[in-house]
Amino acid sequence: MEIKAYDGKIADWSGDSVAVILQQGENCENIGKLSEIVKELISRKDFTGKKGCLVKVPVMDGTVKNLYLMGIGENEEGKLSAAVRSAAAELVRKIADDNCEDLLIHIPRVVSAKDSNRLFKAIGEGVKLGAYSFDKYMTKKEEEKNKRKLEKVYIAGADNESLSKGIIFACSQNFSRDIANEPGNVLYPETLANMAKELTDKFGLICEIWDEKRILKEKMGCLYAVGAGSVNQPRFIHIVYRPAKVKKAPKIAIVGKGLTFDSGGLDIKPSDFLRTMKGDKTGACNVLGVMQGIARLKPKAEVHGIIGAAENMPGGASFRPDDILTARNGKTIEIDNTDAEGRLVLADALCFASELKPDVIIDMATLTGACAVALGPNRAGLFSNDDELADRFLSAGEACGENLWRLPAEDEKISESMKSPVADMVNCGSRYGGATFAAIFLQEFVGEAKKGKKIPWVHLDIAGVDFFKENSSLYSKGASAFGTRTCLEYIMNL
Ligand code: BES
Ligand code: MN
Ligand code: ZN
Repeated sequence: MEIKAYDGKIADWSGDSVAVILQQGENCENIGKLSEIVKELISRKDFTGKKGCLVKVPVMDGTVKNLYLMGIGENEEGKLSAAVRSAAAELVRKIADDNCEDLLIHIPRVVSAKDSNRLFKAIGEGVKLGAYSFDKYMTKKEEEKNKRKLEKVYIAGADNESLSKGIIFACSQNFSRDIANEPGNVLYPETLANMAKELTDKFGLICEIWDEKRILKEKMGCLYAVGAGSVNQPRFIHIVYRPAKVKKAPKIAIVGKGLTFDSGGLDIKPSDFLRTMKGDKTGACNVLGVMQGIARLKPKAEVHGIIGAAENMPGGASFRPDDILTARNGKTIEIDNTDAEGRLVLADALCFASELKPDVIIDMATLTGACAVALGPNRAGLFSNDDELADRFLSAGEACGENLWRLPAEDEKISESMKSPVADMVNCGSRYGGATFAAIFLQEFVGEAKKGKKIPWVHLDIAGVDFFKENSSLYSKGASAFGTRTCLEYIMNL
């Protein structure tokens, strides 16, 4: 799908359809004959402008095929970009079957806004994210082939630069979604590593991949153990982007949990909980998406993408409850539950990231059901050892329409419950405060920047937002790759 700016008059538009997105109580003049229809619909209260209200008007005089009116409710200045992003996404999804090839979107409120650049970026993102679908495995029916599909979307009054920035952001996320949607029989650690290689070859990034033997040799005892029960052996992936001609670029490490399938291992999950566990690699997919975005947007920062990829399966070679593992930094972990495997994979990956001496470490992981229970399907948990970094991330999330909520990454009582009688720590504790337990556990593997001061670190627990069973405004059903754009936004603002 092509998305472009349109700077002509709406009345001169000769394509299939026009969509006008309006705030509640807003009217729309200056769109030629269509203005009359808008006025009439508003006065008859057929169109209220309330959030989610969509009216389709077939126009019979040949000006256009359809006029769409979509409402976004009442929005304060600061909430407008999130509203138009979601509205654009919902619009392209809802009219997908209307037999239109091209569409002009007009948002009068945005055209007149002072900081319209940010808003046009959001619209570009919304259109691209909303149009996403994963139909690779659908064997196409004949009638589907003959249908007219929405190929061109024009945005009235937009500037192409803001639009294309939004499109790159959304394409990076859609790339992550494409990988996250792949099932476990297709996408396992080895094929995930192949995808990383393909990406880095295409964009000229550095990529190093370690197989299970190298993982063991490199003292990544936790990643090795988590992957041991599967015939699909684990991989460790390290991607590097270095900016050209910059002396002192900030160095950022992004770590992703890459469980290509999480059965729970010997502590196997009940059937209901096995479903969607192909999505347990979302953190890793997001890292690949961010690296793609970085390669295209070329920020003045050195960015390291780091992935621990494994399949957690029960088998003769699985790690067991009671086992004691040794992480790359030498710390020992007694296994209480093999289903708390993500933090183990991240432990080794965070040690590796820390050795690079970065200015900031970010990790993304579908880590705990507890986080999903606490925050629901529309917010990810944010944990950090640094208030300034946490605030920057919260703002980046807000700018992207990805809701984050900060949760505690320290708690005396929970830390105490991490003690093991036979090792340095156990891998899990009580159900209560499970997301904070995991965050405290991860910090044991974040290294020191200077003596006694840890590297600034932020952890996004994206369990619960990684996969949608139904369409949900910005996201169509399936993998969301939530967090990809926030991460890109943070890096682009450095
Ligand atoms: N991958 C899961 C967490 C998860 C749950 C992701 C729901 C997406 C949706 C993780 O590996 C896990 O199994 N966590 C356990 C930890 C427990 C055993 C301490 C959990 O949250 O139940
Ligand atoms: Mn698990
Ligand atoms: Zn998991």
